[in-house]
Amino acid sequence: MSELPGFLDLLSPRPDYSANPDERLHALRSRCPVHFDPVSRHLLVSSHVEARRLLHDPSLLRHPVNADPQSVFARFIDRRPIDPSLPPGERSSILLLDQPDHRRIRVPLQRAFHARVFKARPLIERVVDAHLAALAGADRFDLVAALTIPIPIHAIAAILGVAADRLENFRGWSEDLILTLNPFRSEEEDQRAIAATEALHGHFREMLERRRRQPADDLVSDFAALQAEGAPLSDRELLINLTALLVGGNLTTTDLMASGVKLFLENPREKERLMADPSLAASAVEEVLRMEAPVDFTPRVAPCPMTVGGEPVAAKTPIFALLRAANRDPAIFADPDRFDIGRQDGAHLAFGGGAHICIGAALARLEARIFFPRFFAAFPGARLAPQEYRYRPLPGFRGLEELWVET
Ligand code: HEM
Repeated sequence: MSELPGFLDLLSPRPDYSANPDERLHALRSRCPVHFDPVSRHLLVSSHVEARRLLHDPSLLRHPVNADPQSVFARFIDRRPIDPSLPPGERSSILLLDQPDHRRIRVPLQRAFHARVFKARPLIERVVDAHLAALAGADRFDLVAALTIPIPIHAIAAILGVAADRLENFRGWSEDLILTLNPFRSEEEDQRAIAATEALHGHFREMLERRRRQPADDLVSDFAALQAEGAPLSDRELLINLTALLVGGNLTTTDLMASGVKLFLENPREKERLMADPSLAASAVEEVLRMEAPVDFTPRVAPCPMTVGGEPVAAKTPIFALLRAANRDPAIFADPDRFDIGRQDGAHLAFGGGAHICIGAALARLEARIFFPRFFAAFPGARLAPQEYRYRPLPGFRGLEELWVET
């Protein structure tokens, strides 16, 4: 491509992008690492150093309501009319919230959530083992449908405390929630997303009421306890952010695990290395995150006129840190397109950074560190079936629709 790619050329619904994102991203980074795209009116930042600096800049804003109304990012706002008299924390989850509400809500929820994740290893091992056992004897399966979609949903359901008899409902709602992430969704998809959100809010409301009367050993009880201890959180803020844990967490972890299995099967020496030395599981997961970040980019908004990488940037410009491009920046990562599970040369940006850094990173890492060695131990002869790889047409996300494996 001779012209510089714009934001709309970097979206996963475009098969020409999904088939080979790195060619376009390498060209953009080497020619113009900080590029204002006049079509989307976004600043695209593909250099690792600049992307990291921007993610950690506390002056930048997050919510699309702050963005240039002509920009594509301004259209990321929820389509439903939301009661404008509601306080900001009752309109958006922490994902889009700005300070001071972001900190007020995130800090106590993060404390409770991380404490649960810290104790979750045995529970996740059980979930992974049960799903692997259900495939025993299979000689060919779609890994995405059989393992990497259900495992994160079952893991978060167990952490939250969803009852076993509601698990199927919970899974259906969780899968439909993904539709809320697509700003280009159809009317029919919008209706399904609304129905799933309402059903989940109803379910969480019921759970919260029950846990207030009778606490259990789960995250919903912890959230109810935070309120009882005086944390300034309304019921609606809890419901919105419980739902955000599912929106932010399920699909991304699915994609991490499926992309990882594909990378390992394409690089059998790295798979053998992991199996010979399980202490490499943590660095192997970081390398999968670097090579195949499940989230392609994350936005911020310029609060005032500023300079980025020497370029003047107008107030309200959406600034997109291109995470995949930053993670393959040769200025930081030697031979960046090589999968090397022992790599030591830098920290990737797959979870973003600064105040909005992914709240679920520890859970996603834990699930993947448990999943990869157990999967290859269960299926030592696994290989990729002949297939055409199709990526989910969800802008900003990188995930296989299916991954057929033969054993
Ligand atoms: C491999 C898996 C995951 C990836 C790659 C990922 C990636 C990201 C990224 C890039 C952000 C934006 C960060 C920023 O703008 O600086 C984010 C935010 C977030 N993620 Fe994750 N995520 C993953 C798993 C999870 C999980 C398991 C959960 C919850 C259970 C979760 C919940 C969230 C939430 C709630 C936010 C918003 C945080 C905030 O704005 O304060 N994510 N994630």
